[in-house]
Parts: sequence; structure tokens; C-alpha cells
Amino acid sequence: MSTFVRNALTLRPSIACKSIQVAVIGAGNVGGTLAQRIVERNLANVVLLDIMPGRPKGIALDLMEARGLEGHERFIYGTDDYAETAGSDIIVITAGFPRKPGMTRDDLLKVNTEIVVQATKKAIAYSPEAIIIMVTNPLDVLTYLAWQASGLPPERVMGMAGILDSARFQTFIALELGVSNADVVAMVLGSHGDLMVPLPRYSTVGGVPITELMDEETIERLVQRTRNGGAEIVELMQTGGAYYAPASSVCQMVETILLNKSRILPVASYLTGEYGLNDIFIGVPTRLNCRGVESILQLDLTDAELAALHASAEAVRRQIQRAHELQPA
Ligand code: NAI
Ligand code: 2OP
Repeated sequence: MSTFVRNALTLRPSIACKSIQVAVIGAGNVGGTLAQRIVERNLANVVLLDIMPGRPKGIALDLMEARGLEGHERFIYGTDDYAETAGSDIIVITAGFPRKPGMTRDDLLKVNTEIVVQATKKAIAYSPEAIIIMVTNPLDVLTYLAWQASGLPPERVMGMAGILDSARFQTFIALELGVSNADVVAMVLGSHGDLMVPLPRYSTVGGVPITELMDEETIERLVQRTRNGGAEIVELMQTGGAYYAPASSVCQMVETILLNKSRILPVASYLTGEYGLNDIFIGVPTRLNCRGVESILQLDLTDAELAALHASAEAVRRQIQRAHELQPA
């Protein structure tokens, strides 16, 4: 064996470097797909945690076995022990349940509140420097409750929904006009639900607002399809809901934070007077960077758009109140 080869093979074990790590809590459809997106885009190592111990381990092993085929160098590890998530830079919470037949909204709120509050407390105890991204529904309410449970400054807690809702609106606009998604910018604010606020005036194709490209009736049809976007997929799939586009949406936030991109994205962020709203997490254009929420962009809204945003916020507030009643501190 040549000296060069022998030296290469007897190199010291790699010096312990701190690797960027994302903890994904909940290894269901969204969590598992998100883990795949993160490692295959070479963004970070992932620790995938679920209450069902075998599931995250199985997904992690499967994704590790694809590593050579996909050509990335990231590690993914499955566990049911929060200690294994220690030192994560970002914690994404997807644990919880989608609504099942026979379940009331209160049932879902109660069960997911308990799951999310406990998961937040346990995860942040092991990764006190992390940024939290909430995904579990009801999104805006649980982002608020996770923020309270975490004890973190609000800029380090946020929810994913607006990117998904905007991606759906973008897709429907592109399909309607027969243009590339790449040339469509769509903007959806507000809560993740029936009262979300798509903004046609701020949605453009090649820089031109869609209000100049489509009649009101067409725009209203696309707006309604966007509002109904999650339900449309649940109805088609019958078991479970959307997860490919949700995972891509969270991954965009993860990438923006880890690469300190300073992008302006619709994110459920904490408001302190912006848009006339206080002490609430709701979807607004947010400048994201490595510290989390850097600032909120204040769009010039019409009275009707602002009223719609306030109606959306009021619905979130009522649900936060309800969650506190269902689960007194
Ligand atoms: P899923 O049912 O496939 O996965 C949920 C996972 O959470 C399961 O593996 C379950 O074992 C796990 N889990 C339950 N309790 C847990 C606990 N205490 N600790 C750790 N893990 C626990 O559901 P899916 O499709 O992945 O959706 C997850 C959540 O994300 C749902 O609430 C869904 O409504 C929401 N969602 C939100 C979106 C958004 O835009 N914000 C988009 C898509 C889904
Ligand atoms: C969605 O919009 C259910 O929040 C989920 O697909």
C-alpha cells in the first residue's frame, strides 16, 4: 500500500464538528416527507421523533438507505426520546391529528393542544436555542399556545400555512392562465382556514396584478378553491390530508432560516400592532433570517382587506380562548 493511501485511510476520526440539525416532531405524512426534503436538499441532519417508536426509526433507515442514490451527505435518525433531539437549530412540530369523521373542532383542538404543548416543552428543554416552526392544526392557535409553552421570544416561534395557501393560489392562477408557476407571485394572508385572506391585488403574473388579467368571477372562483385547498385534497384522498406541498412549504422556511436568506414569506408571526393587531400569531408577510422573524412587512390594505384580516384574527382569538377553557393552565 502506498504511503499516500495508508495515510488517507488512517486519518484521524473526524474532529467533532457541530452539524446543523433539525428536529421534526411527528413522523407522519408531513413530518416524514419534510425529513426527506431536508436531507435530500442537503440542508441539515434530521432527528425524526414520534410517539410510535418504530415509525421514525423505519423512515430514518429507509431514507439513510437512499442516501447514496440521492447523493447527499446528511444523516437522519429516528427516535421516540426527546434527549436525542438535543442541540437542534430548528424544531418543526407536525405531531398531532387531522380531523377524523365524528370529531368536532373542539375535539381536535383539545387533543392537538395537549400534544403540541407537551411536545414543545419537551423539545425546547433539550434545544433551548432553537427556532420553532409549528405545522399542526389548528395552525394559528397552536402557534400561539406553543409560543406560550416555550417561553421563547416571539421572533423564534412561527407557523407555516401562508406559504402553502399562497402556493395553492399560485398554482390555480398558473393553471387558469396557462403560464409557468415561476412567473406567478401569489399572496395569501390571515389564518389557515375558511377565513384566510387571499390578496388578488398583490398577486401578479409577470409583475401584472391578476385583477388586470382576469374578471372578478374567475378570481373569486380561484380564491374559493384556495380557501378550500386542504379540504379538496382530503375529499379526494379520503384517508389523511395533503403532505407533499405542506412539506415543501415548511422546507422553504427551514432553508430560509438555515441559509440566512432574509426572504419575505407569508408566515404566521406574532403581531405587536402591525395591521392594527396585537398579541396574536397570524399569517403576514414576514422577513425571515437566521434569527427567525426579523420584521413584518406592512402592506397597504384596502378597508375590505383589512376587515377580512381582522375577522380572521378574531376567529383565531376565539379559538385560543376556547383552548384555554378546554385545557386550563
Ligand atoms: P399524520 O397522522 O400522518 O401524522 C401525525 C403524526 O403525529 C403521527 O405519526 C402520530 O403518531 C404523531 N403523534 C401523535 N401524537 C404524538 C405525540 N404526542 N408525540 C409525537 N408524535 C405524535 O398527520 P399529517 O398528515 O402528518 O399531519 C400532521 C398535522 O399537520 C395535522 O394536524 C395536520 O392537520 C397538520 N397540517 C398542517 C398544515 C399546515 O398548512 N399548517 C398542512 C398539512 C397538515
Ligand atoms: C391543508 O391545508 C389540512 O392544513 C391542511 O392541507
